[in-house]
Amino acid sequence: MMVHIPAVLTPDQVARCREVMEKAAWIDGNVTSGHQAAKAKNNLQLPESAPEARELSNMVLEALGRSPLFMSAVLPKQVFPPLFNRYDPGMTFGNHVDNAVRSGNGARIRTDVSSTLFISSPEDYDGGELIVEDTYGAHSVKLPAGDMIVYPATSLHRVTPITRGSRIASFFWTQSMIRDEAQRALLFDLDMSIIRLAGDHPEHKSVVSLTAVYHNLLRQWAEV
Ligand code: NI
Repeated sequence: MMVHIPAVLTPDQVARCREVMEKAAWIDGNVTSGHQAAKAKNNLQLPESAPEARELSNMVLEALGRSPLFMSAVLPKQVFPPLFNRYDPGMTFGNHVDNAVRSGNGARIRTDVSSTLFISSPEDYDGGELIVEDTYGAHSVKLPAGDMIVYPATSLHRVTPITRGSRIASFFWTQSMIRDEAQRALLFDLDMSIIRLAGDHPEHKSVVSLTAVYHNLLRQWAEV
């Protein structure tokens, strides 16, 4: 299940990110790669320990906390501190799967869900599509600045070569309370259906009973 989450960052926050990043010292993106991914990867990254990265990382974390759609789609148990990368012309990241476990900055998580939050506007660069493969085929993603895509970390994915401009994004992993992807997708569909039903028919008795079903499934499946 891939979910597009619009306007995670406000235009002002996107502008702040770009301002900080213009002055930042970027390093080789392979510092966070596993052995397999390192062979495919050619991009730049903000060092995790840099004060700029900390400031922006906290900004993204706070924004996620205010996003009901992220909460519902991901059911986060723990979010790994968001990182930032940049692709300039010629840079790319070939097909790979993200490491199953991530540690750093005192955190260690199982990566259930991968997220990419676009900071560059699509008109600022050519190429740089995120391609995610699942059982339904390959999905190409290029979103407005401030928007985010979340997808199962089990998916093979890649970033196509940049041919003009720079593509800047934040990326991070989340351990979900719901390890199983199919269960997570089912809970998300149920939650969205309840919200729609409650919007159209606020007094309908099924709103309460379906909400109970949602919470009781969550109670059965959640690792907290
Ligand atoms: Ni990846």
